[in-house]
Amino acid sequence: MTSSCPVLGIGIDVTGLWRWRSLLLREPDVVDVAFSEQERAWVRGMPERAALQWAAKEAAVKALGCGFGPADWQDVVVDLATSPPAVQISPRLRVDLGLRRYRMVVRAGLSRRTPPIAIALAAAVAMPPHGSGATPAQPGQTLPVAVALERAPASGPRVAVRCAERGAAVRAVQRGLAALGETRPYVLDRSPDGRPLLQSDAAGEAPLVSIAHCSGWAAAAVCRGAVGVAGEDPLGAGREAA
Ligand SMILES: CC(C)(COP(=O)(O)OP(=O)(O)OC[C@H]1O[C@@H](n2cnc3c(N)ncnc32)[C@H](O)[C@@H]1OP(=O)(O)O)[C@@H](O)C(=O)NCCC(=O)NCCS
Repeated sequence: MTSSCPVLGIGIDVTGLWRWRSLLLREPDVVDVAFSEQERAWVRGMPERAALQWAAKEAAVKALGCGFGPADWQDVVVDLATSPPAVQISPRLRVDLGLRRYRMVVRAGLSRRTPPIAIALAAAVAMPPHGSGATPAQPGQTLPVAVALERAPASGPRVAVRCAERGAAVRAVQRGLAALGETRPYVLDRSPDGRPLLQSDAAGEAPLVSIAHCSGWAAAAVCRGAVGVAGEDPLGAGREAA
């Protein structure tokens, strides 16, 4: 029998590799501020790894719904040296978020679709255990997450670039929803604290969503609000829950 476990949040981030190339040249000490010792040991001053590491951290704090501010740079540690990546959340932040038990799944990779620009993507999901006997998704288990990346070509004033990125994010969300097989119409909105939300007049729970923009790119991750924990088809369980 398949039971379902709620997914607390989802996060995605896009980071330009070129940004990390110049940042590491200009301010090599940034790694000491942004990354834990464990993360630095993996990054080893390499821009590709720094970009992936940063994207993974940002995706994780978005999945937790707090962002940096409530979370300090080193409150969330993503160890990309392990497969699958291991995520640690500091005891202080866990108390602040009321997160007694959790499981986070992080994936990070470089996209080289438009050389010389590379994009790092990561998706993170936090899940509490559902009832005493349930085990949240196991490493390697498929999560019902759809990710879409869109180009947002724009030049001119910053506000125009931001507008184009926002439009690209909306397109990425629509593609993500289509990939999930979601046919109900949704509007991308945001909560008072900045978190993205999907709103619809249609009945039923809206999928979770996360978006990111970076210098002419936008990405979206969309996820059903539950994941199967005991059966072999978590996507199927997600469909039932939607
Ligand atoms: C969200 C955050 C982690 C990443 O921001 P970023 O790298 O500048 O920008 P990205 O494009 O990758 O992500 C921005 C998107 O994250 C989402 N977002 C914002 N706050 C969020 C939160 N608390 N939880 C989850 N997602 C959030 C929004 O969708 C936002 O897009 P929008 O502004 O078009 O609605 C960062 O801005 C943050 O920590 N914000 C909240 C706290 C804050 O502003 N602190 C200030 C000190 S840095």
